[in-house]
Amino acid sequence: MAGSKFAYVRKFELPDPLLPDTFMVFRLDGHSFHRFSDKHNFDKPNDLRALQLMDHAARDVMEEYSDIVLGFGESDEFRVSFHATDWVLYRCFAIDRSSETAAIIHLYSDVITFLLRKSTELYNRRQAKIVSTLTSLFTSSYVFNWPRYFPDNPLQYPPSFDGRIILYPGEQQIRDYFSWRQADTHINNLYNTVFWALVQQGGETTTQAHATLRGTVSKEKHEILFSRFQVNYNQVDERYRKGSVLVRDEIAEPVESAVIPTSEAADDAVSEPSPMKGKKAKPKREAKSKTRIVVLHCDIIKNDFWDARPGILNG
Ligand code: GTP
Ligand code: MG
Repeated sequence: MAGSKFAYVRKFELPDPLLPDTFMVFRLDGHSFHRFSDKHNFDKPNDLRALQLMDHAARDVMEEYSDIVLGFGESDEFRVSFHATDWVLYRCFAIDRSSETAAIIHLYSDVITFLLRKSTELYNRRQAKIVSTLTSLFTSSYVFNWPRYFPDNPLQYPPSFDGRIILYPGEQQIRDYFSWRQADTHINNLYNTVFWALVQQGGETTTQAHATLRGTVSKEKHEILFSRFQVNYNQVDERYRKGSVLVRDEIAEPVESAVIPTSEAADDAVSEPSPMKGKKAKPKREAKSKTRIVVLHCDIIKNDFWDARPGILNG
């Protein structure tokens, strides 16, 4: 219908580019997960299966986007799923960038944060496109993989997630953002661990447990856990205390590339007019860096994590 009298309506579609040369923090939050977790009988305070499912969906998003950046040309599905202009764009940065989603952290319960490179040109930095695509991929993976983690607990209704992008100009803000999220994880998890110990093992009602904890500082919560329930909080699984951190680790492994003649065949090629005639060709093997996604449960407030992975902030 291009050129018709109706085409003017396209002018109402406004561009929504994100400021260049800024870090993109993309955060997903389970919508009404208080209700969702109740309805699906999540364990309290933490449901391991639910957390592993979140990790899985997050990994799927990272893998999908890593494929676009690193190996777009190899996958037919990707080719058909993007417009021609995007195709060109991805092919370009596949050459010199290792990944777009440089790091991702899943902090406590239903919140996930992805960090995208400062220099990313993903979808031409169009906000709605990035938010909607990543959010829907995460959500569909969550639903798709649900039966794997909850085989005897079918979904009662479709879950949803909200997504937003926050732009930060500098590395310090990124460090502080993730420190904020991890500190929040610690505060929430400590509270919930004591709270549910008081209810489940201590026989208190939820109202009583809230009252018991009102005004207590961190040290006192540790003390309640230890003296009444023999739980040393510092020995609680790091997954719950620190959340999940998913990073790309580079692995150097030999990969097969273009087919070239073996040295024997190449020698023959000098003396024979028809170099490959009757000779076997051997695939060339060369070291090419690939990445794999690893899930960690580690401290990201101190320098060690960032010092060991300078690539996260140098993109
Ligand atoms: P909106 O995000 O504003 O839509 O509300 P929400 O209901 O999702 O609340 P919020 O994101 O603030 O908090 C997440 C809620 O999900 C928690 O308060 C819990 O009720 C629930 N939840 C998340 N993970 C778990 C879990 O592993 N176990 C249990 N029992 N509940 C969980
Ligand atoms: Mg939520």
